[in-house]
Amino acid sequence: MGSCTSKSQIASKPPTKAVTSSTGTASRTRVMADREYHNVEASTYVLPKDDREKDRLHEQHYLLKEKFGGNLLKPEFTVKLFEKDLKVLDIGCGPGTWLMDLATEYPNSNFYGVDITDTFPQAIHPRNLQFQVANVLEPLPFDFKFDFIHVRLLTVALRESEWEIAFRNIYNSLKPGGIFQITEGCPLLNTTDPEMLVIRTNMAQLVRKKQQNPDMASQLDVVLEQENFKVLHKQAIELPLGHGTPADIATGDVYKEVLLGMAPFMAAQMSVDIEEYKRLVHKAAANMGPNKASIPLWGYIAQRPSDN
Ligand SMILES: C[S@@+](CC[C@H](N)C(=O)[O-])C[C@H]1O[C@@H](n2cnc3c(N)ncnc32)[C@H](O)[C@@H]1O
Repeated sequence: MGSCTSKSQIASKPPTKAVTSSTGTASRTRVMADREYHNVEASTYVLPKDDREKDRLHEQHYLLKEKFGGNLLKPEFTVKLFEKDLKVLDIGCGPGTWLMDLATEYPNSNFYGVDITDTFPQAIHPRNLQFQVANVLEPLPFDFKFDFIHVRLLTVALRESEWEIAFRNIYNSLKPGGIFQITEGCPLLNTTDPEMLVIRTNMAQLVRKKQQNPDMASQLDVVLEQENFKVLHKQAIELPLGHGTPADIATGDVYKEVLLGMAPFMAAQMSVDIEEYKRLVHKAAANMGPNKASIPLWGYIAQRPSDN
């Protein structure tokens, strides 16, 4: 599987309107079009952080788990690692669903989750799991190193130039011989539907304008090797959207929720009001099934080489 998009044009600046939250987390939250977003100025991340987004991420986790056949890629290699008690970190953990699953399955290992914003569970989580706010673009706030680090779906969070910084910070937080698992996707779906293609083209322009590379997921092995990782495994998966098994149909709904979550940014990009943008999304999403839409994902296992 090659790249997921052809070159996109750079679009003009959208007039997004932000209102500060009055919920007591004003410094970390801004509200736009009735959805809560992070308020980290330097970040290009455009998805919300509210309960509706947490629900979407929980559902997406279980759909991806089914599609990849479990939480660990290359299980014939990785599952064996968990026979020992490990220190495991998930970066950009969101509501922590991957961690909750693993922490329950491996009660003798210790799990840590970090995210740029406090979307993770504050009170109810397994005893061997803890969370804190941290940015992958800064040195990670731990005075020990990890056996296993996990990242999933940061493609619309990092500028193209930021991947090497993120991977350097991850490398420095791994023990020599430690393992890094990353799964990323192209945010742009494959479709022939003319209405969805308009949305896709605008999303491509939006991410390029944010200096993100929508094709990054297919090229991460190059950056990993640049940052001294040894790439042990690369796999590609095409996720059907809205057609196929009940899980594939649900995956279409999850993707529609992504489009709706980006509404303030995408409406500005398309020069339409938010209600009109949502109408366009609902209409185009209804055609994902009949048009056999899909989205490509890539998974990698890499290793920090052992010290000799
Ligand atoms: C698409 S969600 C994926 C969540 C989770 N990894 C999963 O697969 O369910 C991306 C997450 O990355 C977080 N994020 C964005 N930029 C980040 C950064 N620079 N450092 C740490 N987390 C970040 C977001 O707040 C969000 O929770």
